[in-house]
Amino acid sequence: MSQFISKDKRTHYCGSLAESDDGKEVVLMGWVHRRRDHGGVIFVDLRDREGIVQIVFNPEAGETVHSEAHKIRSEYVLAVKGKVRIRPEGMTNPDLATGQVEVLVSDLEILNESKTPPFSFDDEDISENIRLKYRYLDLRRPAIQQNLFLRSRLASATRRYFEENGFIEVETPFLTKSTPEGARDYLVPSRINKGTFYALPQSPQIFKQLLMVSGFDRYYQIVKCFRDEDLRADRQPEFTQIDVEMSFITEEDIMQMMEGLMASIFKACLGKELSLPLPRLTYADAISRYGKDNPDVRFGMEIKDITDIVKNSGFKLFAEVAAQGGVIKAIKANQASGLSRKDLDGLAEFVAIYGAKGLAWAKVNAADWTSPIYKFLKPEETTGIGQLLNAKEGDVIFFVADTPKVVHDSLGNLRVHLARKLNLIDPDALAFTWVTEFPLMEYSEAEKRYVSTHHPFTSPFLEDLPLLTTDPGKVRARAYDLVLNGSEIGGGSIRIHRKDVQAQVFSALGLSDEEARLKFGFLLDALEYGAPPHGGLAFGLDRLTMIMTNAESIRDVIAFPKTQKAACLLSDAPSKVSIEQLMELSLKIV
Ligand code: AMO
Ligand code: AMP
Repeated sequence: MSQFISKDKRTHYCGSLAESDDGKEVVLMGWVHRRRDHGGVIFVDLRDREGIVQIVFNPEAGETVHSEAHKIRSEYVLAVKGKVRIRPEGMTNPDLATGQVEVLVSDLEILNESKTPPFSFDDEDISENIRLKYRYLDLRRPAIQQNLFLRSRLASATRRYFEENGFIEVETPFLTKSTPEGARDYLVPSRINKGTFYALPQSPQIFKQLLMVSGFDRYYQIVKCFRDEDLRADRQPEFTQIDVEMSFITEEDIMQMMEGLMASIFKACLGKELSLPLPRLTYADAISRYGKDNPDVRFGMEIKDITDIVKNSGFKLFAEVAAQGGVIKAIKANQASGLSRKDLDGLAEFVAIYGAKGLAWAKVNAADWTSPIYKFLKPEETTGIGQLLNAKEGDVIFFVADTPKVVHDSLGNLRVHLARKLNLIDPDALAFTWVTEFPLMEYSEAEKRYVSTHHPFTSPFLEDLPLLTTDPGKVRARAYDLVLNGSEIGGGSIRIHRKDVQAQVFSALGLSDEEARLKFGFLLDALEYGAPPHGGLAFGLDRLTMIMTNAESIRDVIAFPKTQKAACLLSDAPSKVSIEQLMELSLKIV
C-alpha cells in the first residue's frame, strides 16, 4: 500500500487551487503533464480531471525528495504534499486557470511510472487513428474530458427534469426483434435456438408503445440504439437516445414538454436561457425556403422561386425547364463579389454532387450584372429577379434549374456551404426550429412502393385519410423533428392507436396483413387491448452534446467511439471468432 494513500488523503484537485488557498498545506495526486529542469529547481505541471497546477521542487526541500524528483517523466503518476503560494511577480501564467499560484513540494511519492505516450497531449493534429487506438490516453486530454463532463451534466439534467415531471424510467431489451426505423439491423445469433437471430434495437419504439398500452402514461429512458448504416460525422453505429413516450396527449403537449427539457438542459449545462416557445416551420416551408428538412436558420440566404419570372426567358434552358414542369430557384450571397472564377467553378462542382447540371451565377453591379447568362436575359427578368432577391451592388446570385428535388438539394446544400465559406454563421447562435407536417410516406424508386418517412406507426392527419388511397404522397404525418443549428437533434410523432387506421396505412405501404403480423404482430395485438392515444419523441444525445460542445465529430463526445468503418481501434472489434464458437451457433462463414 502506498504510504501516501494510506497516510495522507488527497485534499484538493490540481485544477481547483486558487489564490484563496495561499499558505495552505495540500496533498495532490495526478499525472505529469510537463516537466522542466532549471538547474537546481524542477518545475512540474501536475494534471488531474479538474486541470493543471505548477508544482515546484526546490533543492532546499531535502535531498531525498529532490533526487526522487529527478526521476519524474511525462505521465508518471505522483502524490505530493506541499504548500500553496502566490507566484512571484512576473511568474504568473495567464494561460492556466491556476496560473496565479504554485505548490512548493515537501513530500513526493511516485505512485507509478509510464511509458512515453505515443503522442503529445498538446498537439492539435494527432492522427485520429492513433488517438482512437490509445483512447485511454486521448481521454486524458482536458478538451475531451470537458466534453464528457458536459455529457454527464446533460444526462443528469435530463433525469432531473423527467423526475420532476412524473416520468418513469423503464429499461427495454437489447436482445429483441427488428424495430421499424428502417436502417439495417445488427443481428445476434441465438445458441439455444439454432438458426435464429435477435436484432439489436434501432430504438425502443415498439416497447415504449407497449408501456403506454400497459398504462405507464409517461416513460423515458437514456438508451443505446444500434443501426447498421453508412456512417457520417454525426452518425455512429451505436448511439444514445433520450427516449420519451406519453399517453392522452396531443403533439402540442409533447412539444411543450420537450421545449421545457431543452430549456432545463441548456440552463443547467451552459447557463443559457432559451426563449420559449421555439419557432416552427412546416416541412413544405422548410424545403421551399431552405431546401432541407433540417434547415440551418442561424443565417438568412433563403431560397427564392423565380420560375414565374423566367418561364418565357430568353435563356432557353430556363424556359425549357419551366415548360417541362421543373423549377428555377435562386439564392443570394450578400457582398460576395470577391468570389473568383475558380471559386465559382468550385461551387458548380459542389452542386453537381446533388445532381445539378450546372450553376448559373450573377455578380450584381451598379447598372448591370457580370454573368454568363446576362446577355440572354430580358431587362424585365433581371429587374424582377433583382427585386425578388433584394439584390444590391456587390451581391452574387446563384441559380439552379431542374426538378424540385434537385433544385432544393443543390441550393439547400450550397446555402450551408456558402455560409461556412463566407463566415456568415455566428458561432454562439442557438437556432432551434421544429419541423412539422412531414409527409407520411414517400415513393421509393428502388422498392417501387411507398415507404414510411418516419415509421409505420406514425399517425396521419385524420383529415388527410381519404388521400391514402388516391394520393398517398400528399398525406401529412403528425410527426415533428427538432432541429438545432441545422442538425436534426430529435424526432417523433403521435402514433396510430386504432386498428382500422393502422390497417389503412399498412395497405398504402403495400404491406400485407401477413407481412405486418410477421414483423410487428406483438404490437398489433397489443393495440387491440385498449391502447390509449399516445405519442413521443427521441433526441440524439450524442448530437445534442456535439452542438453544446462545438465538437466537429460525434466521436469527440463518445468515450469509446467507432471509426467511419464501424471499427473500434482500441479493442479491435469487430474480430474473427473461433471455429468452436461458430460451431456452437451452427454458423458457417461463406
Ligand atoms: P429517429 O430515427 O429520428 O427516431 O432517431 C431519433 C434521433 O436519434 C438521433 N440519431 C442518431 N444519432 C447518432 N447516430 C445515428 N446513427 C443516429 N440515428 C439517429 C437523431 C435523431 O433525431 N423511435 C423514433 C423516435 C420516436 O418516434 O419517438 C426514432 O428512433 O438525432
Ligand atoms: P451554357 O450556356 O451551357 O454555358 O450555360 C450557361 C450557364 O448556365 C453556365 O454558368 C452553366 O453553369 C449554367 N447552367 C447550366 N445548366 C444549368 C442548370 N440546370 N441550372 C442552372 N444553371 C445552369
